[in-house]
Amino acid sequence: METKELLLMIPGPTNVPPRIMKAMFKPMINHRDEEFRALYKNILENLRYAFQTKNDVFPLTCSGTGGVEFAIGNLISRGDKVIVPVNGLFSERLKEEIIRFGGVPIEIRSEWGSACSVEDVKTVLENEKDVKAIALVYNETSTGTTLRSLPEIGKLAKKYDVLLIVDAISVLLGDYLPVDEWGVDVCIAGSQKCFACPPGLAMVSVSEKAYEVAEKNRFRPFYHDLLAWREFKGRLETPFTPVLPLYYALDEALKVLKEEGLENRVQRHRVCAQAFYMAFEEMGLDTVAHGDLRSNTVIVPWLPTNVDDRRFRENLKKKYGVVVAGGGGKLKGKTFRIGSMGTVSKSEVLRTIRGILGSLTDTGYNLDIKPDEIESKVEKVFSGFKFYQFY
Ligand SMILES: Cc1ncc(COP(=O)(O)O)c(C=O)c1O
Repeated sequence: METKELLLMIPGPTNVPPRIMKAMFKPMINHRDEEFRALYKNILENLRYAFQTKNDVFPLTCSGTGGVEFAIGNLISRGDKVIVPVNGLFSERLKEEIIRFGGVPIEIRSEWGSACSVEDVKTVLENEKDVKAIALVYNETSTGTTLRSLPEIGKLAKKYDVLLIVDAISVLLGDYLPVDEWGVDVCIAGSQKCFACPPGLAMVSVSEKAYEVAEKNRFRPFYHDLLAWREFKGRLETPFTPVLPLYYALDEALKVLKEEGLENRVQRHRVCAQAFYMAFEEMGLDTVAHGDLRSNTVIVPWLPTNVDDRRFRENLKKKYGVVVAGGGGKLKGKTFRIGSMGTVSKSEVLRTIRGILGSLTDTGYNLDIKPDEIESKVEKVFSGFKFYQFY
């Protein structure tokens, strides 16, 4: 990226490469015509690659929350029991969605920054009758915590024959998530995160088991009707007018993904996250999540107690040209959040770290270590890694 441009390091939207931006500047087409069918066919095929699934994956024209609402609205009916691990702001919202559709959430609460274990879920499944689904947030964006027991939870879901609904909005493509291998029935992703695409699309994968459940639900939403999406897919159309410019962008973003390769994309996110974690350790800043629960895509350090959040972030933006997000929910003012996703690379990570070091010092934090020393340590994390060229 050009250094004079603002560097967006929030947990979405991300910086979008010019190639994907330019893709949107194409004439509109008839969405009930051959040209659209060709576009839609490519998108559907490449989304399967992104999700590592043989299932259908629908590009819904709404933000991530719309994707969550699509999943819950079609699959959860009045009185359905749903196990929901709650460990942050977005899992709270997921619980709220379940309540709005008449579901009965069975919460498994963990401290913010930690996550439930597979035993916690197993205990509930053993003690509760007629559980319909497990719904969880794989990567809790408010705390930078990844629920690492997901593969084991997937096995439990299969054993107990319950649906597994996963909000992977802030992590799909930024960490390993093979939808079919892990037995995920419904997986939700967002265009504005690791896809390096503009905001406005939620991509949702749907298993056969999920279709069967939706078929029994008479009160499916009208606009967000899963079965209508399936029916229209049969003729390579969408039920309603899609946001064509975003479809053009997604088509291009998926081509970029295939050029880079899924493994490389995940690995790039992993390396960049490791560099951030190392830098914060060197700076003496703890993160909310620890060990392998630490996210590959959202890094959430605690602010030094003598540093004012607003001053720190405003200065970081104005003086160093780097935008990071504030803390979410009860962590507001106490943490800040880095979205290390999309096009993130060595230069973006180093520029962010340099800016943060500068702005922390400007706003009152005394560093025991010289910025150059931190940088040279961080550089080593990247040694030998070959970055895909977005720009
Ligand atoms: C885990 C998670 N779920 C849901 C959402 C909501 O997505 P949106 O703001 O695109 O509706 C976000 C957004 O950051 C998220 O990180």
